[in-house]
Amino acid sequence: MNDRSTLERREFLKTTAVGLMAGSAAGLLTGNLALGQNSPAPPSPTQDQGESSGFNPLAEKGMPLEQQARTWRELTELEYDKQTVHPYTRCRIITMNGIEVAAAIFKHNMARHFDNPIVRERLALTRRIEQQQQKRVNGLVPANEHTLETTIGYEQVAVDLTAWLAQNEPDPHVKAALDFALLEDFDHLYRYANVLDMRRNGYMRPEMIVGRLTEIMPGRPTPVEHCHPLDSVRRWVDFSKASPQTLMNIMTIVAAEKQTMNFYMNVQNRAEDKVLRGLYNEIGLIEEQHVTHYESLMDPTCPLLKCAVMHELHECYMYYSFAEQEVDPVVKRLWEVNLDMEIGHLHDAVAMYKDFAKKDPAEFLPSSLPKPILFQSNIDYVRQILAEQVALTTKHTEYVNVAELPQDYRYFAWRSSVNGDWVPAGVAISNHIAQQGEDYRFAVAEHPVPAYRDRTSPSVDYPQQA
Ligand SMILES: [Fe+2]
Ligand SMILES: [Fe+2]
Ligand SMILES: [Fe+2]
Ligand SMILES: [Fe+2]
Repeated sequence: MNDRSTLERREFLKTTAVGLMAGSAAGLLTGNLALGQNSPAPPSPTQDQGESSGFNPLAEKGMPLEQQARTWRELTELEYDKQTVHPYTRCRIITMNGIEVAAAIFKHNMARHFDNPIVRERLALTRRIEQQQQKRVNGLVPANEHTLETTIGYEQVAVDLTAWLAQNEPDPHVKAALDFALLEDFDHLYRYANVLDMRRNGYMRPEMIVGRLTEIMPGRPTPVEHCHPLDSVRRWVDFSKASPQTLMNIMTIVAAEKQTMNFYMNVQNRAEDKVLRGLYNEIGLIEEQHVTHYESLMDPTCPLLKCAVMHELHECYMYYSFAEQEVDPVVKRLWEVNLDMEIGHLHDAVAMYKDFAKKDPAEFLPSSLPKPILFQSNIDYVRQILAEQVALTTKHTEYVNVAELPQDYRYFAWRSSVNGDWVPAGVAISNHIAQQGEDYRFAVAEHPVPAYRDRTSPSVDYPQQA
């Protein structure tokens, strides 16, 4: 696996031009609509249905459930080499681990809401398989990959996954949510990278982990990302009117952000020094904010039996997408096998829907999956959004330029109450400057925001206050 990964990575890097993505223009959203948080977002009149992959998992037989159990040996046999794995193979592994965790946790939650023993038993069966898939995927990460190195992978996922989704999202309300949080995860990558770059002896350089496919420099500074909790809830999307691409995009980003939130919830006590511990806490609270932000886009009226079908369809979509693009043949084979399993789960969820909701899921299932999700370099797109939207914050359900907020708005009081007199996101950069004379970056050009070009003082505020 490792030799082939190295070879294919070289091939991939040869063919990957920096700034591959064209990127559509994203306007600043400064409106403050009077709609309540319990109202769905109005569907866009220009909303299209997006491109189709032409793949319909329901037209495939899939792996029968009784053939899906795997042995401990099978769950434990594969690990990648952290030095040679393709950065986007690592990203796909992190993402699919999050999708499988989401599948298992969703089925636990769903089971608590059904007193029907057949539904509870059927959920127990496929949930056990989801757990096996999760162990096999998460187990691909080797023990010598330090938690902080894995963290760089998590934030690369958050940058390049979000950037792809934003560029392929037909609903402007959902696209705005993606662009908003994109700049925050982009900054997290920079903060963690500065801590990692101060370490030597066995630790990888941050730009080697991201394969120079993602830039590492300030985004919207983490210390100003802390919105008041009441300003972190968006208007929800009516799933009965949303395009298949929008449905898949929302399910993907919610699962990925939730995985990042869970990861930081667990690893913050693995950090050896106080600054890194504090940084995991600080960024972990932003991931909580991101999960609230994205999860609030989900349709709260979607019945659980329908959600169960959508979850399996989404897992099919993710494995189908990743099997198509995977450069490591061993990992590609795993994606293919898991896709076959998910098709089996989907048939079971559809049968459960017919049996217990007494309706035909053809009413809401698309005839084919949308365009496959893709990990690729998004350097130009991220730069464009940085230049246009770095000064945004939130007010109630909407986005506003921070300069438009009155000084007594709750955002400022909340931000001060959590930042106090010690802000790890700032200290992490100051420490690097003290050790090496400047901050750590990997950038292909000067920063698109002039206020963030100075590498000898940490960026901790909005540009106009910097
Ligand atoms: Fe699964
Ligand atoms: Fe993040
Ligand atoms: Fe995030
Ligand atoms: Fe599944």
